[in-house]
Amino acid sequence: MDNQTLSSTFQQYYGEAPTLVAHAPGRVNLIGEHTDYNEGFVFPAAINFGTWVAASKRDDNEISVTAMDYDNQQNQFALSDIQYDEEQGWANYVRGVVKVLKESMPEFGGANLLVTGNVPQGAGLSSSASFEVAILKAISALYELPLDGVKAALLGQKAENTFVGCSCGIMDQLISAMGNEGMAMLLDCQSLAIEHSPLPDSHQIVIINSNVKRGLVDSEYNLRRQQCEQGASLLGVASLREANIDMLETAKAHMPEVVYRRARHIITENARTLKASQALKNGDIATVSKAMAESHVSMRDDFEITVRPIDYLVEIIDEVLGTSGGVRMTGGGFGGCVVALAPTDKVEAVKQVVANKYFDETGYNADIYVCTATQGAFA
Ligand code: GLA
Repeated sequence: MDNQTLSSTFQQYYGEAPTLVAHAPGRVNLIGEHTDYNEGFVFPAAINFGTWVAASKRDDNEISVTAMDYDNQQNQFALSDIQYDEEQGWANYVRGVVKVLKESMPEFGGANLLVTGNVPQGAGLSSSASFEVAILKAISALYELPLDGVKAALLGQKAENTFVGCSCGIMDQLISAMGNEGMAMLLDCQSLAIEHSPLPDSHQIVIINSNVKRGLVDSEYNLRRQQCEQGASLLGVASLREANIDMLETAKAHMPEVVYRRARHIITENARTLKASQALKNGDIATVSKAMAESHVSMRDDFEITVRPIDYLVEIIDEVLGTSGGVRMTGGGFGGCVVALAPTDKVEAVKQVVANKYFDETGYNADIYVCTATQGAFA
């Protein structure tokens, strides 16, 4: 999005130039899926797709927001009474974050906002987290609020949990706020400790959008979360982060089979995430490759969040990459995207195999984005 178009559209709607333009990126997760709300480890990168929010202050206590990507629909609400909007679903991300921000830092007034973004929606690349973080960045910058990236991420998550109704973890908002250019980020979701880790020059992040629109995401997502909590409680630990495979095997006989498998995914995924992030640092791509492959199988068989077209993409791309790179589903699941870490000289072959085989096998057309890792909104 060029700032020129954003500014002139803002001018058109609000009769003045914006004071600032905030930006927050979407993300791709390299490994560590559904581990965040189990207080485990994730390894995402912020990507060069995101949300832009042009903003200026108003002298009343109203927020007015215009969504360029929804036919310039407008939504307006008073800061003193923020309710869920049944009609304009997209507006609830704004309403939710403004509400939780107000509870936490009441020292701000009204704003005019214009929003646009290019994160594909419903693709598991965190378009909603990038929207939330961009709004928080815009308002906090306008009113010079003492909001840092971690706090912003926690507010975004809170808005999503309490206002929008998805029990998501902290990964998406935190990487959108705190990612670094050229880096992936190992995040300990228990302590919120962050370790930035350079991505190798030899490889590219290739995202393949299956274009299977995610169905039943929120209900299935919330169900997975409940099953994980049940697993932790049966194992007598506060979260699955505290569990290990020996404990799980010992308790197996007393656990529902599905809960056992959900817990096995989380426990093994945490170990794989640590292993893969370390291996990437050491340039040991073969280990990264194996960890990503095992992660996919675990999401497919134990956590049951993949769909057949996604499994197929992983199979055909894996045949091209072998141990020279890695491939797995990324994000919450039930459709969405596959992420490949591909050596630069194999990117074309990845594109080719998808073009040659994916549509014929599944009836879906894939989109492919070769991404770079970018800077978070508060980094
Ligand atoms: C969604 C959630 C995240 C995380 C992932 C799965 O993106 O918003 O918190 O749980 O799914 O790893």
